[in-house]
Amino acid sequence: MKKVLITGASGGIGLEVVKKLAAQGYSLTLVARNEEKLLSLQESLGKDRHQVLSLDLTKTADILELSNYITDNRYNVLINNAGTGTYGKFVEIPLENQLSTMTLNMEALVTLSYAYLKKARSGDALINIGSLLAHSSLPGGAVYAATKSFVANFSESLWFEFKNKGIFVAGFNPGAADSDFHHNAGKETSAFPKFVVSSVAQVAEELINALNNRSKPRIVQGFKNRMMLFGFRLLSRKAAVNIMGKISPGIPHS
Ligand SMILES: NC(=O)c1ccc[n+]([C@@H]2O[C@H](COP(=O)([O-])OP(=O)(O)OC[C@H]3O[C@@H](n4cnc5c(N)ncnc54)[C@H](OP(=O)(O)O)[C@@H]3O)[C@@H](O)[C@H]2O)c1
Repeated sequence: MKKVLITGASGGIGLEVVKKLAAQGYSLTLVARNEEKLLSLQESLGKDRHQVLSLDLTKTADILELSNYITDNRYNVLINNAGTGTYGKFVEIPLENQLSTMTLNMEALVTLSYAYLKKARSGDALINIGSLLAHSSLPGGAVYAATKSFVANFSESLWFEFKNKGIFVAGFNPGAADSDFHHNAGKETSAFPKFVVSSVAQVAEELINALNNRSKPRIVQGFKNRMMLFGFRLLSRKAAVNIMGKISPGIPHS
């Protein structure tokens, strides 16, 4: 039975990935903070096949606990999915929140990737969840967008380092999706035009396709997102950041 460890399994994109992989027969280790949600998910999927670990991956002790757990247990796939952000102007968001985002989105992801890849074997895979914003800046979400650029760049380098060992590493970059992410970040998904928002089920399906196809180091989710990115690449950086500032949910617009 193939084993997958996924962070951010209790909601949103991670939860959909979990449901789909469980239906395909994978054994999953589900990681997030909310133990109640994790236990009820484990119950619904089958208690004997799946494990839960309630951990806060902004806390150094919890990151190390999970890193040691990954070292001691064999997984065919690791999905670093847990991530947070906060909308708002840089100096108007408490610094502590932004440093927590950096710890979860980058430090935890790097630490878990390290533990996993140290022992990974041919056929194994590591998927790191970035964002469409990996390819852009975001006024009103400066730290979040920067963490996602880090994830995409980091994953791409590892793709090269591991490809000849038969180990697949990729950054998977979703566009806006209808999870609780935007609410938790201080805005609502309705801040985005409907046509750019994907369902979490759609994102999860594309993530699993990427895992199965193992074709490239940087995957942009959604045809419309790929088209938007293509258009953005034709602009100067100045023009691009001006547009992002005008449409950002994190900047008040009159
Ligand atoms: N939704 C979007 O539009 C969108 C777009 C691009 C990229 N992404 C990325 O996709 C990933 C998943 O986001 P989502 O949309 O599914 O968001 P979500 O619905 O807010 O889910 C986030 C998941 O991460 C877990 N989590 C949050 N803080 C954590 C912590 N400190 N320690 C451990 N787990 C933690 C949450 O569970 P607990 O609260 O139980 O801990 C939850 O399971 C993130 O990396 C996000 O940046 C999302």
